[in-house]
Amino acid sequence: MQYVPLGNTGLKVSEICLGTMTFGNEADEQMSRAIMGKAFDLGINFFDAAHNYNKGATEEIVGRWIGPHRDEIILTSKIFFPAGGGRNDQGLSRRNIIQSTEKTLKRLQTDYLDILYLHHWDESADIEQTMRAVNTLIEQGKVHYCAVSNFAAWQTIKAISVAEAHNLASIVATQPMYSLLKRQVEVEILPLAAEEGLAVVPYNAIAAGMLTGKYLKDQEIVGRLNEVEMYRQRYEKQQYTEVTRRFVVHAQEKGYSPAALAVAWVKSHPVVTCPIIGARNLEQLQDTLGCLDIELDTAARKEITELSFDPPTATDREPMAAMLARGW
Ligand SMILES: NC(=O)c1ccc[n+]([C@@H]2O[C@H](COP(=O)([O-])OP(=O)(O)OC[C@H]3O[C@@H](n4cnc5c(N)ncnc54)[C@H](OP(=O)(O)O)[C@@H]3O)[C@@H](O)[C@H]2O)c1
Repeated sequence: MQYVPLGNTGLKVSEICLGTMTFGNEADEQMSRAIMGKAFDLGINFFDAAHNYNKGATEEIVGRWIGPHRDEIILTSKIFFPAGGGRNDQGLSRRNIIQSTEKTLKRLQTDYLDILYLHHWDESADIEQTMRAVNTLIEQGKVHYCAVSNFAAWQTIKAISVAEAHNLASIVATQPMYSLLKRQVEVEILPLAAEEGLAVVPYNAIAAGMLTGKYLKDQEIVGRLNEVEMYRQRYEKQQYTEVTRRFVVHAQEKGYSPAALAVAWVKSHPVVTCPIIGARNLEQLQDTLGCLDIELDTAARKEITELSFDPPTATDREPMAAMLARGW
């Protein structure tokens, strides 16, 4: 296992982060413990949780396992989505940030989170108040760093600007969706992260299972795309099926497992810090971790990228390089 800098924090994290979203749902407690144990034994020291995963059951499972390993693990959780059932148990209000994080710490049986992600932009909350609330938790030692997930570039830079203007703890990382099927982040988020020195910790690297090719073989197979409507809709476009088909053939030709190659492709982007992987059992974990043995150079990465389709540019005007090449 290699260890990489987490943005500018000075922390070193494993080149793969372990996602916990299946714990307490697809993976029961025994299987979740086996997955955490295997990942830890292999040197993974970066675990990703969220307060709303399986209504808090995920954090409880991690909390019952993590005790003896806590000092060695960089542990994250998140805040935004509804969790408690109450009208105000959601969003990025000061009230919810502080109360929900206290509950997260109890479930995780820990005194602090290494990273608290703002899980989504909240249109109804003033970002300055949000950053002040996280800053309070940081001053209390309950959270070490603030990060964002699913934020657009302008939302991220607004949070950073507000923090800097008011001398509050700023953003150290971003957690976007990123895979060969979903490349929107290449347009603005990744350049922003490079410019600001943010760590990039992408999720959905194998498109929630789609890029394994298993849905091409058996449309009725047990899996998230057949079990969760949000995911079915996310990947239902015909062009995703076509890219998957080309990608699976490419993986077979190169002798790689598609799951491993999909994660290796995300990992090979120069601005990506480490992808988060997820598994419902040890077989999936083992298969996906094959990514650790795949080194994609620029040419090999480009070959895979070309199986996909480029996202539209950030503005309709051509970039400066194109204008220069034309002689303005
Ligand atoms: N910030 C956010 O908004 C956000 C959103 C989602 C996830 N996350 C985090 O990122 C982590 C990973 O995300 P993800 O689970 O969506 O990533 P993913 O790697 O794209 O999908 C993982 C899923 O694909 C299937 N799978 C994995 N390996 C496989 C294999 N080798 N063969 C066949 N199927 C395989 C499993 O689902 P099935 O068995 O059901 O097919 C597994 O749960 C999560 O645990 C969570 O910590 C964050």
